[in-house]
Amino acid sequence: MAHKPVLYQEIIHALNPRDGGLYVDGTVGSGGHALGILEASSPGGVLLGLDLDPIALSLAGELLSPFADRLILKQASYTTMSQQIVDLGWSQVDGVLLDLGVSSMQLDDKDRGFSFLGEAPLDMRFNPEGLVTAADLINGLPEKELADLIYRYGEERKSRQIARVIVENRPLYTTTELAGLISRVVKRGKDDIHPATRTFQALRIVTNDELRNLEAVLPQAVESLTPGGRLAVIAFHSLEDRIVKDFLRRESQDCICPPKQPLCTCGHKATIRQVTRRPIRPEETEITINPRARSSRLRIAEKI
Ligand SMILES: C[S@@+](CC[C@H](N)C(=O)[O-])C[C@H]1O[C@@H](n2cnc3c(N)ncnc32)[C@H](O)[C@@H]1O
Repeated sequence: MAHKPVLYQEIIHALNPRDGGLYVDGTVGSGGHALGILEASSPGGVLLGLDLDPIALSLAGELLSPFADRLILKQASYTTMSQQIVDLGWSQVDGVLLDLGVSSMQLDDKDRGFSFLGEAPLDMRFNPEGLVTAADLINGLPEKELADLIYRYGEERKSRQIARVIVENRPLYTTTELAGLISRVVKRGKDDIHPATRTFQALRIVTNDELRNLEAVLPQAVESLTPGGRLAVIAFHSLEDRIVKDFLRRESQDCICPPKQPLCTCGHKATIRQVTRRPIRPEETEITINPRARSSRLRIAEKI
């Protein structure tokens, strides 16, 4: 591992792993956070690590091999979390981690198409068996749908111009072809991010159905926790963080009736307590070592 995964200390502190505890890392990736959880829950804590990406899982398997007797790694979507827990014969767990989005390993893998920095096929699937690639979207969607996708999931103001130039030049096959086209219509702004950043984010989110998956896993994660168990979620952009924030706010309230309604009719009961009202951001020193940490936000909740 080149450096510790994002917000490492904060995650381990939040989950407070203990000997004999049961933990789920829904996005185990190369196993960086999982290593910390297994070490901190020695000698008897058990971890279930899920990921869609078989390459990530094999790296995790290597890194975590000293803990093989108390580790289960499975290629599966975190949206199947409740079922995975039942399949293990567990009833509830002591901690759940979701470290959302794409890993440094996936970004750096030149064949996966997640990055515009090297030439690669427009793939962007976490699961290489997934049905849709970024190329399918780029080359198959009508211009208006492509523009809406880029606007909605990339929060890109120049979405219409980008969709037009794509449609005029398709079929497109590689990341560099796409990034080059985008650079023709979007200039580097004050934020100094690459002009293709937001469009690539949008394509990745839709290729992997990331936001819908996040909405599906959050209730399962809370339901799986034992009282006092902790949920930690790291989001990397505002669309993800908004879903996490709204979910945690709703689940930590006893009533979710509209604000002006005098009497409660919803019967909703809080299931969690928010451990931190505001998201935890990485320290500047972490951002200097790992610039990809810059936009990360950690939210923590505890089951009531
Ligand atoms: C930011 S990385 C996690 C890095 C990890 N925490 C570590 O320490 O190495 C996010 C991971 O989530 C995985 N992923 C994305 N969507 C998923 C899903 N629906 N189910 C399971 N894993 C998913 C990706 O393949 C990626 O490996």
